[in-house]
Amino acid sequence: MYKDNREFMKALEAAGELVTIDQEVDWDMEAGAIVRKVCEDKAPSPLMNKIKDYPGHRYLGAPLANYRKLAIAMGMDPDSSIPEIAAEYLERTNREPVKPVIVEKDQAPCKENIITGDDVDLFTLPAPMVHEGDGGRYLATWHFVVTKDPDKQEVNWGMYRQMVYNSKIMTGPLFPFSGGGQVFHGKYVPRGEAMPFATVIGPDPLGAIAGSAPTAIPEPEYTGQLLGKPVELVKCETVDLEVPANAEIIIEGYILPDVSIEEGPFGEYTGYRTSPRDTRTVYQVTAITHRNDPITTISNMGVPTDEGQLLRSFTLGLEMDRMLRNQGIPITGVYMLPESTHHLVVVGVKPLYTNIAAQIAQTVFGSSLGMWFHMVVVVDDKTDIYNFNEVLHALSTRCHPVNGIHVWQGVGTPLYPFLSAAERKKSVGPKVLFDCTFPLDWDPLSEVPRLVSFKTVYPQEIQDKVLANWEKYGFTK
Ligand SMILES: Cc1cc2nc3c(=O)[nH]c(=O)nc-3n(C[C@H](O)[C@H](O)[C@H](O)COP(=O)(O)O)c2cc1C
Repeated sequence: MYKDNREFMKALEAAGELVTIDQEVDWDMEAGAIVRKVCEDKAPSPLMNKIKDYPGHRYLGAPLANYRKLAIAMGMDPDSSIPEIAAEYLERTNREPVKPVIVEKDQAPCKENIITGDDVDLFTLPAPMVHEGDGGRYLATWHFVVTKDPDKQEVNWGMYRQMVYNSKIMTGPLFPFSGGGQVFHGKYVPRGEAMPFATVIGPDPLGAIAGSAPTAIPEPEYTGQLLGKPVELVKCETVDLEVPANAEIIIEGYILPDVSIEEGPFGEYTGYRTSPRDTRTVYQVTAITHRNDPITTISNMGVPTDEGQLLRSFTLGLEMDRMLRNQGIPITGVYMLPESTHHLVVVGVKPLYTNIAAQIAQTVFGSSLGMWFHMVVVVDDKTDIYNFNEVLHALSTRCHPVNGIHVWQGVGTPLYPFLSAAERKKSVGPKVLFDCTFPLDWDPLSEVPRLVSFKTVYPQEIQDKVLANWEKYGFTK
C-alpha cells in the first residue's frame, strides 16, 4: 500500500495508467481540458510537470477516474473485477476502525515549506481554471477539508470544492447535510464562532476515497481500515487540527460564521453547470504548507466518468449494501452506475415476499444516503447487477409500466438538473422505483415467462461441452 500520492503514481505508471507531460501546460483551461478528455476517454492520468507561471509546481489529473485506478489504489491487481474490488472494500471497512498516529514535524513532508501571516498568498499555488464559464479558479477539486466537532472532538474529512476568491480567502458550498457542514451550521454559526479547517490537497488515494465516502466512521480511522494500518498525521501550524503528514499541500484557516461571498458556477458531477453563482461559505486562510515540487491534484467534473462519479457511486452503493444486509433484507448485491452520475442504483434481491422492491426503495431513499440519488432498479437474484445488458433487459421486459413503477416525493440536493430553480431551492427530490421482479403469485411454470439465454435454456452438460470446446470451435476466450 502507498504512503502517499507519489508512490501511488509510480504504481499507476507501472500499470500503464499514467502519462507524463513535460511540455508546458497552461493553468487557464488547458490543464482542465486535458483532464476532461482523459475522463471521457478513460485514459491514463496525466502528470503535468511544467505549469505556465508556476515553476516548481506540478499537476496530477484524474487520479482515480476508472476501476483499474481504483483497484491499484486498493493495492489490488489492476484487472480485478468490480465485484472483487467491492468485496475487498466491504471486507476491509467491516473491520475495526484503526486510530491514526501523530508524527513529528520533521517526519512530515507536507512541512517542507511553511508560509504563515502576511506571506500567505493563494495565488502562489497553481489553482486551475478548470472549465470555461467557472466562476473562478478552483484550488480544491480532489482533496478533503478537515474539521472537528468542538463538543465530541470527532474529526471529519469531507471533499467540498473551494474556489480562490482573493490571496487569503477561498469560498465554496458547505451543505448543512454534509459532515463538516452539519457541525459548522449546527454548532459554530449559532455560537458566532469561526470553525478551524485544513484543506488537504494531494492526499494519498485511500484518504481521498474516505473524504468523498458517505461513512459515519471518522475518516482518519476509515482510511486506516482501508490502509490496514494507522494513517500518519501531523499537527497544523495555526489551527488545532491534524493533517496527513505525506500530503502535497495543506491550507489552514478558519471558516467564518457571519459572512458569505459569491462562488460558482462550476461544472458539476451531474455533467451540467446547475447551481448558479450564489453566496457561499468563506474560508479565511492563515497558513499554507507544502512539499517541495508540490503536486496539485485535479478532478474535472463533467459528463461521465470522473473520479467523483466513480467513487461516490462505488461507496454509496456499498453503504447501501451494508445497510440492507444489516436490516436482514435478502439482497444479492448493490451496484450504483457511475454512468448515471450516481443517480441510479441497481439492487439484486431474492424475491421472497411481495413488495420487497418497495421495501428496498423506501429503506435506501429514507436513509441519509437517499438525497444523492433518485432511481432504484430492483432485479431478481438471477440477474447480474454488474452486467448493463442484463439490467437493461430486465428493466425493459419485467417492469410493468403501471404496476412496477412507483413514484415518491422526497428530499434531494439542489444539483439535480431536471428540477426547476424553485424546486431546487426547496430541496425537492422526486424518487422512482422500477420493480423488475415478476409477481410472486404467478405460477413459475405456466405464468412466469421462461428467460431464453445460454445459461437458462440448455442442460448443464451441453453448456459445459460448448464451453470446453469454445476455443477448439475457433472462437477466442
Ligand atoms: C470532487 C467532489 C467534490 C465535491 N464537492 C462537494 C461540495 O462542494 N459540497 C458538498 O457538500 N459536497 C461535495 N461533495 C460530496 C461530498 O464529498 C460527500 O458528500 C462526502 O461524503 C462528504 O463527506 P461527509 O459525509 O463527511 O460530509 C463532493 C464530492 C466530490 C467527489
